[in-house]
Amino acid sequence: MAQLLITGGAGFIGSHACLVLLEAGHRLVVLDNFSNSSESVPARVAELSGISKGQRLRIIHGDIRNREDLDLAFNAYTDGITAVLHFAGLKAVAESIKDPLLYWDVNVNGSRSLLQAMRSYGCRTIVFSSSATVYGHPDQMPIPESAKVKPINPYGKTKAAVEQLLNDVAESEPGWRIARLRYFNPVGAHPSGLIGEDPKGVPTNLFPFISQVAIGKLEKLKIWGGDWPTPDGSCIRDYIHVMDLAEGHKAALDVLLMGNSQILTLNLGSGLGYSVLEVVAAFSRASTKSIPYIISERRVGDAACTVADPALASKILNWQTKRNLEQICKDCWKWQEKYPHGYVQN
Ligand SMILES: NC(=O)c1ccc[n+]([C@@H]2O[C@H](COP(=O)([O-])OP(=O)(O)OC[C@H]3O[C@@H](n4cnc5c(N)ncnc54)[C@H](O)[C@@H]3O)[C@@H](O)[C@H]2O)c1
Repeated sequence: MAQLLITGGAGFIGSHACLVLLEAGHRLVVLDNFSNSSESVPARVAELSGISKGQRLRIIHGDIRNREDLDLAFNAYTDGITAVLHFAGLKAVAESIKDPLLYWDVNVNGSRSLLQAMRSYGCRTIVFSSSATVYGHPDQMPIPESAKVKPINPYGKTKAAVEQLLNDVAESEPGWRIARLRYFNPVGAHPSGLIGEDPKGVPTNLFPFISQVAIGKLEKLKIWGGDWPTPDGSCIRDYIHVMDLAEGHKAALDVLLMGNSQILTLNLGSGLGYSVLEVVAAFSRASTKSIPYIISERRVGDAACTVADPALASKILNWQTKRNLEQICKDCWKWQEKYPHGYVQN
């Protein structure tokens, strides 16, 4: 059993990871400023794990850029913090293009401030949420970790910068155990339907968009481009169930905690690509709803096809995805049907 600091632990991926880590017996402290999440999330995670909130799940409403908040987090348990899982950050590509200063501040400066606190508390084990966005438009498909890092938007650049920072920190002194996990497209929800993805405003990601069309909140799905060089003309992505992703974090943490100083860089994806139209059909089957859509112009910066080569993660972590597209759609729909307004009003 370890004491873990989970930054951004109330968010979409962090909340599912908290659940898996609580189920593994760890004690957690979540540091979240709730800028993109609901304060009701930790209680739901506690409920699902069968513990009472406060018992092995402490919450600090604070910011990773604020040293006092970090001090509270590192002092949450008398035995100290064994490792950090660092989910806190901003993730919207379009917003990052409009406000790069904000993205560099939260994602890069926030990570720097976290690493500084880790160093002063003697905690040198961290799992970092990176993204397939760091590959930009890769030359190889499926994408191996050895592919060039050449992000094409400010969001991806901040993720690449933190990866580099982690590398520099690891080289600066011995003892760091670091996993840089490059997620592909995290989707789905916990099968209970109690926690899931709750984007603010009109969703830009495919699954929340489709869900809101299926439930009748939005009229039509907008598909960005129908003339891509793919079999049906729509974009292909590698969708990973958020519970598979959460289990990937546990696997990475276990490998780090068992090993010596090391830095891992791993893709977390399924290795399978589905087109937007295939997802629409699968979601329609799972929800038994029709999903009206229109095909509009391609979106600037999109790639035709992005699929992970997950072989290295499978080898090093002894982990692979277990849930297929059908399960993803089923769980996503359960969450949407149960909480059509997300965490608000529920
Ligand atoms: N969801 C994806 O598609 C995806 C893909 C690749 C990588 N990632 C990365 O994974 C991580 C988690 O993503 P998510 O989908 O769960 O996002 P999310 O927005 O649901 O969760 C992020 C959490 O961090 C919190 N947060 C933001 N800024 C903070 C700050 N300064 N201090 C403390 N807390 C702060 C938010 O309130 C939120 O609870 C992010 O770093 C994201 O960039 C996400």
